[in-house]
Amino acid sequence: MSNNNETEFLLSELAKTAKASLEEATALHPGLYRSGEIHDLETSRIFAKEWLCPGRAADIPNPGDYLTYSIGDQPIFIQRGRDDEIRAFANVCRHRMMKLLDGTGSCKRIVCPYHAWTYGLDGQLIGAPYMDRSKGFDKTEISLKPVRIEIWHGWIYVTLNLDAGPVADALADFPDFLNLYKVEDYVPVVTQDHVWQTNWKLLAENFIEGYHLPIAHKATVGAGYRPDDIEPFENPSDAFTFHLFRKPPDAIVGNAHPDNSRLTGDWRNTSMLGVVFPSHLIVLAPDHLWYLSLRPKGADEVHIRFGAALAPEVFDAQKDPELEREKMIALFDMINAEDRFVVEGIFAGARAPLTEPGRLSWLEHMLHDFAIYLNAKIGGTEEK
Ligand code: FES
Ligand SMILES: [Fe+2]
Repeated sequence: MSNNNETEFLLSELAKTAKASLEEATALHPGLYRSGEIHDLETSRIFAKEWLCPGRAADIPNPGDYLTYSIGDQPIFIQRGRDDEIRAFANVCRHRMMKLLDGTGSCKRIVCPYHAWTYGLDGQLIGAPYMDRSKGFDKTEISLKPVRIEIWHGWIYVTLNLDAGPVADALADFPDFLNLYKVEDYVPVVTQDHVWQTNWKLLAENFIEGYHLPIAHKATVGAGYRPDDIEPFENPSDAFTFHLFRKPPDAIVGNAHPDNSRLTGDWRNTSMLGVVFPSHLIVLAPDHLWYLSLRPKGADEVHIRFGAALAPEVFDAQKDPELEREKMIALFDMINAEDRFVVEGIFAGARAPLTEPGRLSWLEHMLHDFAIYLNAKIGGTEEK
C-alpha cells in the first residue's frame, strides 16, 4: 500500500472504532500506533492546536521560579513574575536564537548564556551589551515572544494556537468535585521527565484504564483497586473523560487523612482517573495526586513529564519529609516500571504483522472515548 492509501485505510479503521458503541468497540488498529503519517497528523492537528500541561502553578510558588517545556519544536518557559502572575514565553533569545533556560530554577532576570542579552520577568529586554552602534536599536521595543497560558485548578496549560478557546470553557462540563479536593492546594513532591520507546497513545490508553491495575500493578497500587466499583462519567466531552473509583480503608494510598475536613462521606476514599485530552493524564485521590503530560517525539518515542503531589494535611503530617519523598519516589518508580513493561511490550505487539485489534471491556470505556476524540481531530481529510 502506498503511504497515502495506508493512511486513508488507518483513518477509516479509526472512524469505524470511534463510531462503534462501547459494547461493540475494539482497540485501535495497530497501524495507528506505528505510522509516521498518523504521527504527522497528530502533530499538526492535535499537539499544535490543543492546550497542553507543562506542570502545576504550585511547582513555581515564588516570583522568579520557572519551569521549561516544549510544544513541538518550540521550547518555552513558564515563570512567575514579581506581580505573582504566571507567564509563558518562547524560550529563544531575540538576538541569535539561543535557548535561554533549561530544566527548572529561579532567577531575578533572564540572562542569555550566549551574549548576555538580559530580560525582565515580564519578558522585556532590559540589557544588551555593545549594541550602542547598531542604528535604531531600541531595547524597549524588544520582548520575548509570549505564549498563551491559562491555569485550571492549579494546572498550567499552554498552547501555540491563538484561536483555541479558553481552557475553562472546554472543561466547563467537568463536574465540580475538583473544588471539594481543593486540588490547587496539593503540594508538589516530585516532578520528573522520562523518555520511553513507545507510541504516546499506548501510554495514554494504559493510564486511563483500570482493567490492568489488579494484574500489572498487583505489587503496588493495583492491590486496592476494585474494578466492580468504578463509576464511569456518563457524559464524556471532546475535551476530557474520567471515572471515579473507591479504595478500601487498608489501601496504601487513596484515603483521606484524618485532618482532611474538605471531603466527607464516600468522597473520603474516592479517586478520579481521567484525561484532559489529548495528553494530560490525572489520578486525583483524597491524599495525593499524580499526573503525566505526554509529548510524542515521533511515532515510536514519547517524552513524559511525571508529577506527584500530596494533599496539604498529608504533606504537613510527614515527620521526615525527605524520607517520605524518597519513599514516594520509590513507589512511583515501581509503578512506572510496571507500566513501562506493558507499554513497551504492547508497542512490540503493535508492530507485529499478525496483530489485529482485540475487543474492549467496559472497564476500558475511556479508550473508546479516546478513539472518538482522535477521530474528531485527525479523522477525515479536512484540517480541524
Ligand atoms: S543569542 Fe542571546 S545574547 Fe546572543
Ligand atoms: Fe498502569
